[in-house]
Amino acid sequence: MVKPETVTLAGYSIHVGRGLIDQVGKLARAAVKAHRWAIISDTNVAPLYGARVAASFGDAQVDAFTVPAGEAHKTREHWARLTDELLATGFARDGAIIALGGGMVGDLAGFVAATYMRGIPFVQVPTTLLAMIDASIGGKTGVDTKAGKNLVGAFHDPMAVIADPQTLTTLSERELRSGAAEAIKHGVIADVGYFEKTAAELPAALKDPAGEAMQQIIFGSIRIKSAVVGADAKEQGLRKTLNFGHTIGHALEAASGFDLLHGEAIAMGMVYETMLAEKLGIAEAGTVARLAGALGSGIGMPRSFAVAFGRESLRGYLHADKKSRDGALELALPKRIGMMAGAGKGWVIPVPDDAILEMIAKS
Ligand SMILES: NC(=O)c1ccc[n+]([C@@H]2O[C@H](COP(=O)([O-])OP(=O)(O)OC[C@H]3O[C@@H](n4cnc5c(N)ncnc54)[C@H](O)[C@@H]3O)[C@@H](O)[C@H]2O)c1
Ligand SMILES: [Zn+2]
Repeated sequence: MVKPETVTLAGYSIHVGRGLIDQVGKLARAAVKAHRWAIISDTNVAPLYGARVAASFGDAQVDAFTVPAGEAHKTREHWARLTDELLATGFARDGAIIALGGGMVGDLAGFVAATYMRGIPFVQVPTTLLAMIDASIGGKTGVDTKAGKNLVGAFHDPMAVIADPQTLTTLSERELRSGAAEAIKHGVIADVGYFEKTAAELPAALKDPAGEAMQQIIFGSIRIKSAVVGADAKEQGLRKTLNFGHTIGHALEAASGFDLLHGEAIAMGMVYETMLAEKLGIAEAGTVARLAGALGSGIGMPRSFAVAFGRESLRGYLHADKKSRDGALELALPKRIGMMAGAGKGWVIPVPDDAILEMIAKS
């Protein structure tokens, strides 16, 4: 058995270990002094792990709430419904929420926790690779609106994060691969050693997601994200490096009508943004090749996608991103693998949208 590992970096403990799904109650109670618990999960994850998590609380009072699975349900309507259901059960400030699921559940349940009676504690129990290494850490919670994703939300740190890689064995391979793109991203922005090791080990780790190698990849990624978030919680500077690949990636994700999974779009966005960085003389020559190798042959991410989109519609999607300011796009660009550009300049580099659109059209 692989030993659980714990890191306390961003003010709360993040536990990673095989079998921890049956210890959520123990770990959550150690982190929060609550008298009752609400487990919020989705219709895919609740049947798989809901009963085990509830049982881990022993004789404590636990209520379960479920939302339909899928990003389309990360809405104010479900936030309101969950809030009303909690109020109806008499849930008060001495209660705490367990967010059991992927990033969709984490963001939604976290936003319920952030706003319920002006904020109650919550614990993240991420069950996708993306949620384990990214979404569950850093305290961003929220919902989507018709105008765009994550436009309504709050910063609300969890009291603990409990990730059991064994839960990844039920996740679809496509979701697993997509999440792995964010691990590669963490290597690019902060740690060349982690990048090399992860790129080399991911192909095998993806076939054995509950194994030792995957646990190491998850833990290493969490360390990087927590360190970045710990240094800049409100995204004034360094945290912007986490947006690497996301300006173009979000636009492609939206332009595909969300046929692309987030990680697939971000993988392409990272390659395009690095191509741009090389072209602008910001990134060392050869950076694109190393990155594309890790993402393409390494974890099977697509390089391009066959959705026809017009230049102007992509321009619209690029500017819909929250990171666009005064018409200019501010991109987090790499200098080389393991090091981002823009230190001392807010970690972003303004790039005209035409330069981006031209490069995508040519590739
Ligand atoms: N808060 C942040 O900092 C942050 C960062 C990145 C992404 N996000 C958000 O995270 C969301 C994406 O997260 P995601 O990729 O985890 O998507 P998701 O939560 O929608 O999960 C993907 C699918 O996998 C299913 N699933 C989850 N765990 C499973 C398991 N163990 N076994 C079987 N099926 C399982 C879900 O029901 C869903 O159908 C987006 O809403 C995004 O905005 C937030
Ligand atoms: Zn992302």
